[in-house]
Amino acid sequence: MKSRPAAVTLLLSGLAAILAACSRPPALPPQPLRVVFFSDIHTRTEWDTPEALRMAADAINARQADLILCGGDMITDGYIATPESAAPRWQAYRAFHDAIRPEPVSAIGNHDLVGVEPANGSPPADDPRADVRKWMNLSRTYRSFDRSGYHFILLDGIDITRDDLKYRGFIGPDQMAWLRADLAQVPADTPIVVVTHLPLLTRFYRNANGQVIAPPPNRAILNHREVLDAFAGHRLLAVLQGHLHVHERFEHNGTTFLTGGAVCGMWWRGSWHGTPEGFLVLTLYPDRVESEYVSYGWQSRRPANR
Ligand SMILES: [Fe+2]
Repeated sequence: MKSRPAAVTLLLSGLAAILAACSRPPALPPQPLRVVFFSDIHTRTEWDTPEALRMAADAINARQADLILCGGDMITDGYIATPESAAPRWQAYRAFHDAIRPEPVSAIGNHDLVGVEPANGSPPADDPRADVRKWMNLSRTYRSFDRSGYHFILLDGIDITRDDLKYRGFIGPDQMAWLRADLAQVPADTPIVVVTHLPLLTRFYRNANGQVIAPPPNRAILNHREVLDAFAGHRLLAVLQGHLHVHERFEHNGTTFLTGGAVCGMWWRGSWHGTPEGFLVLTLYPDRVESEYVSYGWQSRRPANR
């Protein structure tokens, strides 16, 4: 067998090295990133709330963020609705969503599941996530993406139980396997931000109700240790959470946990435990998070008896 001339071998190995380098995206050092995180919109059409959402969209756009994240509960009461009765709320939510620049990236909330137990006696939906996927153009309700040197992970922690609590916070085995596979592709020094509707960690129940009071199973993710342990060896910068409608911030094990209040405040009745209708404005750095909770100034018009 004839051997290749040395110059040809050198050329081929050089080409192979260039092709390998071109197939890998270059690793970007993370830059400061301006983020708006809003959650718990509970969109509906009563009590002038579409006007509130126009105000909220204007206030969000005024921040000129690089990235907008949504923590779920985009509409209200999808759980007991049908796709037909939920449609006007989705249309109102889309008007808000479409007014925001850049386009928000959304996690799913429990209220975004449609048709689990329709109040009008209609048969339950075969797939209660079908509606949110359709209205938000999603192929899956948990996913990840990279932006400016940061890795973002959106979790879907709603596990339908059909018991008295209706659902619990839980990341099931399929999603855990996906999460571990996703993290295996993330370099150890890449700052990671998780968005989850139900909190992984919260101090709210203890702070509000008593030193030994834990969140009920439908208020936080029950297997939070399993989820957080999956990030061992990684740089989990921040966890952005919704569901509780309060603003809280604390650090745990080098991670900043932020619960992002609610665009609807106390379900369109004003402030909830001192948190007004608003959203979080963040600046991410590779080693820290600056955050500010801002009100957009809505005065509730929900009648007291509703
Ligand atoms: Fe909510």
